[in-house]
Amino acid sequence: MRDLSTTFTRLRFENPFLLASAPPTESDANILRAFDAGWGGVVTKTIGLHPVVNVKGPKTKFLRADNEATRLSMNKRPSTTLVASWNWELISDKTIDWWLPRIESIKKAHPTRILIASIMAGSGNDKELHHWQELTKGVQDAGADGVELNFSCPHMDRIDMGSNVGKDKVLCSVVTMAVKEVARVPVWVKLTPATANIGEEAEATFRGGADAISSSNTFPSLPPIDPESLEFEMNVEGYVSSGGLGGPAILPLSLAKMSEMTRRFPDKAFSGIGGVSTFEHALSYFLLGCGTVQVCTAAMLDHAVGPNVIKMLTNGMSEFMERRGFNSLEDFRGLRRDRVVAHSQIKRPETREYHGGYDEEHEGYARPLVTA
Ligand SMILES: Cc1cc2nc3c(=O)[nH]c(=O)nc-3n(C[C@H](O)[C@H](O)[C@H](O)COP(=O)(O)O)c2cc1C
Repeated sequence: MRDLSTTFTRLRFENPFLLASAPPTESDANILRAFDAGWGGVVTKTIGLHPVVNVKGPKTKFLRADNEATRLSMNKRPSTTLVASWNWELISDKTIDWWLPRIESIKKAHPTRILIASIMAGSGNDKELHHWQELTKGVQDAGADGVELNFSCPHMDRIDMGSNVGKDKVLCSVVTMAVKEVARVPVWVKLTPATANIGEEAEATFRGGADAISSSNTFPSLPPIDPESLEFEMNVEGYVSSGGLGGPAILPLSLAKMSEMTRRFPDKAFSGIGGVSTFEHALSYFLLGCGTVQVCTAAMLDHAVGPNVIKMLTNGMSEFMERRGFNSLEDFRGLRRDRVVAHSQIKRPETREYHGGYDEEHEGYARPLVTA
């Protein structure tokens, strides 16, 4: 096995793979199992100051396609392929007092693994900004190696919370600055992908002093409607609310968001998230310039904390480095960052063989018309 270790925001990781903030990291029992399985780090399920109450019934379901892609449904059935996860789960339903001693004991058991505490509060006034500071001081005193500010939870009705913070450049700067005032540990910020130009929010966040940006959280979305019952496939008493899409479907969407940021800030630190289950997927994020990668959906479907997923990631990375003669992640990080350019920069055809995109080999297009 090659040495997969890497340094990211001053923290040394045994490997660059983390469990993202989500059900796989919702308890100390899960996190300890994850470290035993080999994850280089975890981001805890988002911790707030006040308890939350989730909706009645399931909080996450998985959208699968029949192998002929005729049906896309959350109903469990054989011979299907995973397309996405869909969830409307809120932040941790455990209080900060529940979390603090557990953060301490996890770090004692695994001092060389990286534990990032995801935190969230409101941001509408000074009292709320103090809540961010209180959470930061609490988790760093308990031994967390870093914090990740959740500016991206897509299920918040409050205008000054979750993804509503990530959609507001001023709040992005103000909250990050408030946290940086008290933080001794690196501050990561998880931005929402639900904005028109994520480079703008990234700029505001870095101006506030962020050490890294994580992206993406889930994308706003609705479950499909069942054609027989005419009900949303996930609902409570017939009602649904916008939830978040994760898993394979969001990989290309998330890469596009990441690329906007890594091109604009090539010297900054980024943690890639979205649709990763194998090293091939993670590699796209590394080639765009990310220094770590996080996983949620794939881990949920692999014994809840991804013991096989982390093996695939580390074995895949080691084999890739061996094959290519790379000694560390730094040898290939960012290699394809500058291959994303304006459309006008893409070469136009110079020969008569060009068929304007209607070539037979272009799946999904009709045969080209033969012109004289
Ligand atoms: C059920 C569920 C709960 C989640 N809870 C949180 C959370 O509390 N905080 C957070 O920052 N992201 C949360 N996420 C988002 C994930 O961390 C991750 O950004 C997203 O699922 C995309 O990664 P994936 O494609 O590997 O699933 C949650 C995702 C799911 C599916």
